[in-house]
Amino acid sequence: MAESLIATGRAPWFDVEHGVLDRRIYTDPDIYAEELEKIFARAWNFVCHETQIPDPGDFFMNYIGEDEVIVVRDRSGAIQVLLNSCPHRGNTVCRAEQGHTNSFLCSYHGWNFDLTGGLIGMPGEDTFYRNDVDKSEWGLGRAAQVASYKGFVFATLDPEAPPLEDYLGWVGRLGIDTLATHGDLVAVDGVVKNRIKCNWKLAVDNLYDWYHVKISHGSALRAGLLTDEAMAPMDQMVILGEYGHGIGGPGMSEEQQAEFDARMASGKGEPQWYDLQAQRRLDPAVRETLGPIGTRCLGHPNIFPNLWIALTRQVCLRIPRGPFETELWWFTFMPKDISEEERRHTMFMANHVFGPAGLLEQDDGENWSHSTRGARGTVTRRQPLNFSMGRGHDRVEDDASGQHRIETVVNEHGQRWTYQAWQEWMLADNWQELIANHSMPPKGVV
Ligand code: FES
Ligand SMILES: [Fe+2]
Repeated sequence: MAESLIATGRAPWFDVEHGVLDRRIYTDPDIYAEELEKIFARAWNFVCHETQIPDPGDFFMNYIGEDEVIVVRDRSGAIQVLLNSCPHRGNTVCRAEQGHTNSFLCSYHGWNFDLTGGLIGMPGEDTFYRNDVDKSEWGLGRAAQVASYKGFVFATLDPEAPPLEDYLGWVGRLGIDTLATHGDLVAVDGVVKNRIKCNWKLAVDNLYDWYHVKISHGSALRAGLLTDEAMAPMDQMVILGEYGHGIGGPGMSEEQQAEFDARMASGKGEPQWYDLQAQRRLDPAVRETLGPIGTRCLGHPNIFPNLWIALTRQVCLRIPRGPFETELWWFTFMPKDISEEERRHTMFMANHVFGPAGLLEQDDGENWSHSTRGARGTVTRRQPLNFSMGRGHDRVEDDASGQHRIETVVNEHGQRWTYQAWQEWMLADNWQELIANHSMPPKGVV
């Protein structure tokens, strides 16, 4: 094997050709500061679901990187994303995680802001300021662009970012469609939030990781949470999209899909590992939306950088809290028209699989935090990490629908794609450069 590019110093962090990563990207404070600028301040970030703020005056607090934002429906019904920082001394103007208000009144000196962020009042405007302040210039900062896709609201702080639908591309849109096709979704009240002592990228990396399941989650398997085959099937499908979006995990082969369809039609045959997820996709309208490959794809989508769309009718934001800590926010969704039994099942899964009390996430979080620790040692962190699984052994297959994919066994294509994209984002100085220089999804052998 040729010498790694990282070893020769010719690649900054990730040697794409060999799948070798410089683990200092998990702990270096300068790299972290640069991520906040070049990734979070530039990307389209998921901020909330429209059903969380149905009426004018409803708001939900979120973060874009370390910038705290208020997502609020204004009086016209439009969604505003405002920086939660008063332009007087910088105090936050809203302390609640969500709620309803007529305006945002700063608790320090009483400047008051309307639902579009405009400054509408300041104590002593005439007596102390002598009417010398042009209020129209001193509103709250605002996101550069706000847009929704199927009820999922995103915002970017960068005016140069391409439109949301272009940013998502068909892979990002398919990722959201895998959840949106569950029905007319309503976000369940209460977002479950917890912190893990890990770098945010290790949490993202893990959603593509079907190698760890039988080892990390051995106790969950023994406890009977799911069967061996359903937890970690060998049949895998990976779909790589522009700007680092991707979907990775279980996938039904064409033969398995045909077997499933025939079994559903005849009522005869043995249940298979894919039944649980495939069931919902019997609906022709769902198949039409997902497309022929998307219908067979049962993996985990990630909307770059940090939105995981889980199979449990949930999404998880991985919000950075410094290089060594990540806050996980779990949003659960319920289709409007489901039965009481299905509602209870969704809630059971939402509480018992992921999240702080989830059987799986407790195992995962422990490993991510130790991986982060392993990247802090002065000498240890110089040792690169191996991301080579499957490299050069698989092929991207085209489809008449345009939905290309890789069908293979357990692999690390999704992780390599994530770090490759991450590196491209970090090397680009602005959106123009990123648009011009980012890698298109690979073709042929990968
Ligand atoms: S900091 Fe907000 S009014 Fe002074
Ligand atoms: Fe896991």
